[in-house]
Formats: sequence, C-alpha cells, structure tokens
Amino acid sequence: MNDPSKTKLGPPIVGVSKNIERVRELIEHVAGTGLNTVVFGESGVGKEVVAQNLYQKSPRVGKPFIKINCAALPEGLLESELFGYERGAFTGAEQKKKGKFQLAHSGVLLLDEIGDMSLPLQAKLLHVLQSGGEFSPLGSEKEVKADTWVIAATNHDLKRDIEAGKFREDLYYRLNIIKIYLAPLRERPEDIPPLINFYVKEYSQMLNNRNLEKPSPNVIERMCKYSWPGNVRELQNVLKRMLVLGDCSQILDELFNSEKITATQDGAADSSMSQHASLTEIIDLEGANSPDSQSFSLKTAKKKAVEMVEREIISHVLEKTDWNRSKASKILKISYKTLLYKISDLNIVPPEK
Ligand SMILES: Nc1ncnc2c1ncn2[C@@H]1O[C@H](COP(=O)(O)OP(=O)(O)OP(=O)(O)O)[C@@H](O)[C@H]1O
Ligand SMILES: [Mg+2]
Repeated sequence: MNDPSKTKLGPPIVGVSKNIERVRELIEHVAGTGLNTVVFGESGVGKEVVAQNLYQKSPRVGKPFIKINCAALPEGLLESELFGYERGAFTGAEQKKKGKFQLAHSGVLLLDEIGDMSLPLQAKLLHVLQSGGEFSPLGSEKEVKADTWVIAATNHDLKRDIEAGKFREDLYYRLNIIKIYLAPLRERPEDIPPLINFYVKEYSQMLNNRNLEKPSPNVIERMCKYSWPGNVRELQNVLKRMLVLGDCSQILDELFNSEKITATQDGAADSSMSQHASLTEIIDLEGANSPDSQSFSLKTAKKKAVEMVEREIISHVLEKTDWNRSKASKILKISYKTLLYKISDLNIVPPEK
C-alpha cells in the first residue's frame, strides 16, 4: 500500500493561462502543509488532477491516495465506506471492514462531489475533522484515529448550497481552508494548444507509438473557439476521435452544430418554462402529486422535470435532423440504442407528414 510505484500518478497540470499558473502556484504552497483544501470547478475541468498533484508534491507521496465519490453512493453505504464497520453492524456486514478514512491514514482522502453529501453525514464528517481524525466505525464502541489529509472536490457553488440549507456552513469553513478554483476551459482558450500537444504525445504512446498527426493550425484555431461544455475531458475525447478517424473538419462541424442546437434549446427551454408555468405541470397542485398529498415526493417531481426537459430537447434535435436518429444520437452524445429507448419511453412521436 505504501509502495510509491503502486500509486497511480496523475498527469502534470498542463496550461499557460493565468488561472492554471495560479493553480500551480497554490499547489506548490499548499502541498507541504496538509491543510484542508477544496477544489472547485465544472465537470471535467481537472479537479482530480489538482488533487493528485497536491498529493504528488506533498510529503505524503507514496502513502495511500484514496478517492471516494460522495454522489455515487446512498447515504448509509457512503457512511460505511467512509468510516468502516464491525462485523454484524448491520444486515449483511459479515466481516469487519476498514473505512476509506482509515485506509487513507498517512496519505490523502479525496472526497469527490462533496456537495452531494447528505446533511447527517456532513455532521459526522465535521465531527471527525474537529476531533483530529477520530471516529468510531459503525457498530463499534472503540474510536480509531487516522491521520488523513482531506481534499474535497465539487462542481457545486457551496455558498449557494449553504444559503439553500443543503450544505453546513461550519463544515464549509472547516474544509475550505484553502480554496483552489479551476476556470472552465472556454474561459482559458490559451490552454487548448498546449493541452492538444500534450495529449497527442500521450495518445501516440498509448496507441503503440503510432506517430499520430497533430491537428493542423487551422483546426487548432477553430478548437480554441469552441465552448467545451465538458471541458478537458471533452477535449480529450474529441482529440482521440480526430487522431483515429482523421476527419478533423467534420468532427468540428458537428461540435459547432451541436453547440448551436444547445443554444437554441436553452432559449426554447427558457421561454417554454416561463410560458407554461412548468412547475404547475410538474407538481399537480390539486392532484396526487401535490406537495400536500401522501404520494408527493421531491424525487418524483424531479424525475418528471427531467423527463419534461429531455422530451423537449430530444424532440427538438429530432425535428432539426429531420428525424435522422443516427445524426440526432451523435448530436445528443448518446448511443443510437439509448436514443431509440428514450423515444419510446418518453413517447415522442414523429410529426405527421
Ligand atoms: N490541466 C490539465 N492538464 C492535463 N490534463 C488535464 C488537465 N485538466 C484536466 N485534465 C485531464 O482531463 C480529464 C478530466 O480531468 P479530471 O477527472 O481531473 O476532472 P474533474 O474536474 O475531476 O471532473 P469531474 O467533475 O467529472 O469529476 C482527466 O483525464 C485529466 O487528466
Ligand atoms: Mg473528478
């Protein structure tokens, strides 16, 4: 576990923008301190890479680097994964199990998507941090102590979550001693060419040292103008496609087309939301799905809202592509099969000709 060769190292932080330079500077300053840190930024922007770089430059390198995604697990499971349990602590707990907090002892615990952690678990985490890493695994009377450096990452605006009562203010201040913010890629297009250079080399090695041809300056210039909603992860995917398929211009055309459609959809969704007073559609104020009725739940209302937006977006893209499902699935970035399933599930019907 403590063998450095077994710890997967992340890539260096590539980029020349002011934001990335500041991030690199912060990493240099913070890595030696072990101060609780939160990395903020949109999805795919590089939050995990920052956490890996903090770890690599810290005296804890070579010790465990453990990551847990707080959004991926239901509350009870997340608690047992984080803090561990004794045998018999709950049905199914046949063996005693150490939690990630303890497994990360002397190393780093990355709490990914911390903004999605439930309030009761936030309270427990706060208690652990306040006590200097002491806690009892589930079903145990004994306290264990772990010297774990907690780095959190989130794409939420935690201040707004605090105002909405979804995130504890005391935990925010306890975790957020150091704040590292990664700007979206569209706000730092100057990072795109160096990222392309870096990943062309990486992928050439990955694909058996094939000498992959870097996109032309013209293509790179166009790439700098795209908005990259999926940030560096999207850039990586597009680049892989370009390197393997070669048809850079067509790939870019598709990207810009999907951008245009999304922009139209955003406009259409905004106006339709306000026109149709969509809340009353989602929450039937008089009926079974009214907040006063027994069967009402936020989950059902949310599901309905998502379905409504999905139906509108998919219908719009199908209309724009003249019901060419293959083209539509590419624009929507879902598989052809998923699109067919959604058309049937959401009951979307082609217009009568
Ligand atoms: N500045 C960068 N230099 C090199 N690679 C980067 C950089 N930023 C991101 N990447 C790469 O982009 C991909 C996505 O980054 P990462 O997983 O760190 O994003 P994230 O913010 O944690 O995303 P999510 O919110 O989806 O968890 C990774 O493969 C990562 O190595
Ligand atoms: Mg991540």
